[in-house]
Amino acid sequence: MSEKPGKLGISFSFGAAGGEGGTSKLESSIGELGPSIAEAVEWVKKNASRDESGFGWYNLPDKDPSDVLKAAEWLRGYDSIIHVGIGGSALGNLMLHQALLPFYFNERPAGGAPRFYLADNPDPEKARAIWQRVKGSRAALVGVSKSGATAETMSQFLWFRSKMAAESGGSVDGDALVITDPKGGVFRSFANDTKCRSLEIPPSVGGRYSVLTPCGLVTASALGADIKALLKGAADMRDFLASAAGVEANPALFLAATHLFHERGGRPMTVLMPYANRLETFAEWFAQLWGESVGKEGLGTTPVRALGAIDQHSQVQLYTAGPDDKLYTLINVRNRAEEIELSTVSDSSLESLSYLSGRKLGVMLGFEAQSTAAALVKAGRPVVWIELDKIDAHTVGALVFFYEYVTAITGRLLGINPFDQPGVEQGKRYTYGLMGRDGFGKDAGEAGQYFERIKKLGVTA
Ligand code: PA5
Repeated sequence: MSEKPGKLGISFSFGAAGGEGGTSKLESSIGELGPSIAEAVEWVKKNASRDESGFGWYNLPDKDPSDVLKAAEWLRGYDSIIHVGIGGSALGNLMLHQALLPFYFNERPAGGAPRFYLADNPDPEKARAIWQRVKGSRAALVGVSKSGATAETMSQFLWFRSKMAAESGGSVDGDALVITDPKGGVFRSFANDTKCRSLEIPPSVGGRYSVLTPCGLVTASALGADIKALLKGAADMRDFLASAAGVEANPALFLAATHLFHERGGRPMTVLMPYANRLETFAEWFAQLWGESVGKEGLGTTPVRALGAIDQHSQVQLYTAGPDDKLYTLINVRNRAEEIELSTVSDSSLESLSYLSGRKLGVMLGFEAQSTAAALVKAGRPVVWIELDKIDAHTVGALVFFYEYVTAITGRLLGINPFDQPGVEQGKRYTYGLMGRDGFGKDAGEAGQYFERIKKLGVTA
C-alpha cells in the first residue's frame, strides 16, 4: 500500500498490527476473509444501485445540490441560524463546520455570514442561552430530523418557534426550514400545512449517514463551506474504492478487515485520534457512525474519540501501558493551512529551549503524531496511520465517504445490519412513554421497572 498520497491526497498505512508477528497474522486473516470481503463489496454495490433502504449514502455524491445552494442563499439573509437536531441530524453539521470554516467563525463581524447556534441536547439552560443570543436579531429556525419525531428536536423546535412568534407578534413559519423525510413524520406534516420551507433526506439514507444530504450541507454552505468540492471528494473516493480491486489495493477494505481482526482478537475498542483541531469533531461524527452501526448482537467495537496532541497528556499513558484492548488510528496532516515559525531564543534563562529556535509548530505537531505512533508500536499496540495531504472540502468529502464505506463493510463482515439502530429506537420509545405520548404507555411502564432496579441498591450522601 502506497505511503505517498495519490490523487485523493490521502495515504493509509497498516504495517503495525500489534506485537510480535501481529502483521503476518493480520495478513493471513485478510487472506481467509477474502471471500466474505468480496461478498460484502457486492452486497453494497447491488443494494446501492437499487437505492435500497439504508444504502442511499452511496449515491449521495451524485445528487444535484441546487436546492441546497438555494436554501443556503436564503439563510445568508439572516443574522443567526438556530439549528435544532440531534445525533445524525447535528453531528455532521458540527464536523463540517469545524473542518471547513474559519476557527471561531461565529465571531465574524456582523453582516457577514449568519451566526450558528446548535440546540441538540434538550438542556433548558443551553436552549435559553441560545435564545438570549439570538433574540432581537433576524433568526432562521432550521429543524432537522430524519424521522420527524425525535422528542429532543420536536420540543426545542416548538419552544424556539413560540419564542420567535412571541417576539415578532405573528407567524414565523416563513423563517423556518425543516429537513426531513419526504413523507413520514410530524415535520413533514408541519411543512405541508404551514408551507414553511422544507428539504428532503432521502428515505434510503439513515440518520448517521445523512451528512451529505441537506441535513449537513445546507448550514455548511450557508456559512461558507464549498459543498460542491465536498461532494466531488466523496464521489472521487467512491470511484477510487470501486476501482481498487482486492484488499491490498483498497484501504477501506483493508481497514474493515483490520477492525474485524482486532475485534475477534480481543481488542474491543477503536480509537480515532486526529492530530488537527479541524478534525476534532470528525472523530465525534465517526463515533456515532461506528457505534450505532456496528454495535449489535453483542458484537462491534467501542469508538473512542481522541485528539492529538492533547490526549498525549491525558490518555497516551493508558494507551501505551494499560490493557492491550484497542486499535489506534492516527490521522496526520502533511500541509497545514497555517504554519507558525518560532523566533530564535536568546535569553540565557531560556537556553534549554533553544531546540525550539526557528522550529515550526505544525512540524512539531506532526512529530508528536509520529512519537505517539512509535510509542504505541513499541508497546505492541496496533496502529493505523492515515496521512492527509491537506484538510480541505475535497479531502473531507473523501474521508466521509471512506468511513461510511468502511462502516458498512465491517457491519456486513460482522454479520449485523449496519443501517438500523434498535437500541436508539428503544430509548426514544421510553422517552415518549415517560413524557406521556399516546400509544407508549407500555414503554413507560417498562422503563419505570428497569429504572427501579438501579435504585434497589444505593447510598445517599
Ligand atoms: O442514526 C440514527 O438514525 C440516529 O442516531 C439519529 O441520527 C438520531 O436518533 C436522530 O434522529 P432523527 O434525525 O430522526 O431526529
